[in-house]
Amino acid sequence: SGVITLDPGYKNSGSCKSEITFLDGELGILRYRGYSIEELADKGHFLEVSYLLIFGELPSTKELEQFETDIRKYTLVNEEMKNIIDGFPKTAHPMGVLSALTSALTAFNPKSVNVDNEKEMYEAVCKTMGKFLVIATWTYRKSMGFPLNYYDNTKGYVENFMRLMFALPTGPYTPDPVIISAIDKLFILHADHEQNCSTSTVRMVGSSHAGLFASISAGVSALWGPLHGGANQAVLEMLEEIHTSGADTETYLAKAKDKNDPFRLMGFGHRVYKNFDPRAKIIKKAADEVLATLGVEDPILEIAKKLEKAALEDEYFKARNLYPNVDFYSGIIYRALGIPTDMFTVMFAIGRLPGWIAQWKEMRENKEPIGRPRQIYTGHPLRDFKSSDKR
Ligand code: CMC
Repeated sequence: SGVITLDPGYKNSGSCKSEITFLDGELGILRYRGYSIEELADKGHFLEVSYLLIFGELPSTKELEQFETDIRKYTLVNEEMKNIIDGFPKTAHPMGVLSALTSALTAFNPKSVNVDNEKEMYEAVCKTMGKFLVIATWTYRKSMGFPLNYYDNTKGYVENFMRLMFALPTGPYTPDPVIISAIDKLFILHADHEQNCSTSTVRMVGSSHAGLFASISAGVSALWGPLHGGANQAVLEMLEEIHTSGADTETYLAKAKDKNDPFRLMGFGHRVYKNFDPRAKIIKKAADEVLATLGVEDPILEIAKKLEKAALEDEYFKARNLYPNVDFYSGIIYRALGIPTDMFTVMFAIGRLPGWIAQWKEMRENKEPIGRPRQIYTGHPLRDFKSSDKR
């Protein structure tokens, strides 16, 4: 009833009240539960930041240990899930496989659909944190034809990510601590971003009281698109293309500005940030540091810097407040760390997981109504049905 306000893409509509993430697009401010992203990325660890997002406060040493222990309880994935993985072609995109496997978790954990009390909520949270990490890495193992790895209970969460991804049966594997800490930082930077497309999807699906796995699976699908998380893969492919073709960055800028060309400068622009994306600032600095520490010289980084500079000086980009976003430099670090390009968006998903969980939990705890936007109908008025011989 009443007047319906049309707002395509929800550019000006608030969908909920939230205590989780504060974002000021004009000033380039991002805070999780009141803590600045700069400080969290500098001093925090991914699991404690996850705890902060999900439960509202930074954990004490004891609380953090308990959280890690409880996550570990759920890092075994049902063996039958492997049959599902085997059914995919090796060439399948890991994001598609991840979405399907996350949804399949519902079949093996039917109880996790109901969260009627705090205990069940806590269990659902730990289960998702545990199992999602393992299946996310399995999508890569599958694509490589490598045997699947298991979580090592004596190691930390992010170190386990590396082991699950890269350890081979042929010998011992000790991931470089520099790489572990870089990945930890990247996960923190991706951990939440208020009502973005995938998070809104998770809340929307969850608002029908679909379970956490089903909601997260939908979030993975939303994240996959190149306008959202899929941009990190698209950025690197674009930079590689510039490198191999030897094209001028100007050619790409011209393409991005051409309204008859669907091409957009990947990793540029943001719905909310109109001055700069604070995550991009941190990642750009981290890219320099990580490459220097690992002794990696990547011509792609130079191309990215050149492209960024040219875009920032360009009238079209200036007039539209288009700045590099989180996805612009993250792929360069991932590449230096040995993460394959088609796993970049999966990295984003692992990082975003605590944010999705926190938002889903908040939505359930606030007893939000089912998400159900309205529309303005622009189709035919009433007309009569004619049998097919008269059409
Ligand atoms: N290259 C060229 N033109 C652009 C770009 C770009 N990357 N981004 C926006 N524009 C133009 C757009 O054509 C429009 O121009 P005009 O006013 O002349 O029609 C104007 O800038 C405003 O763009 P919009 O599409 O109305 O803005 P939006 O808020 O709907 O879209 C966006 C935001 C992030 C989807 C968009 O900037 C984009 O497609 N960027 C490239 C993809 C990308 O890097 N995505 C990652 C986003 S950040 C992390 C994440 O969410 O995963």
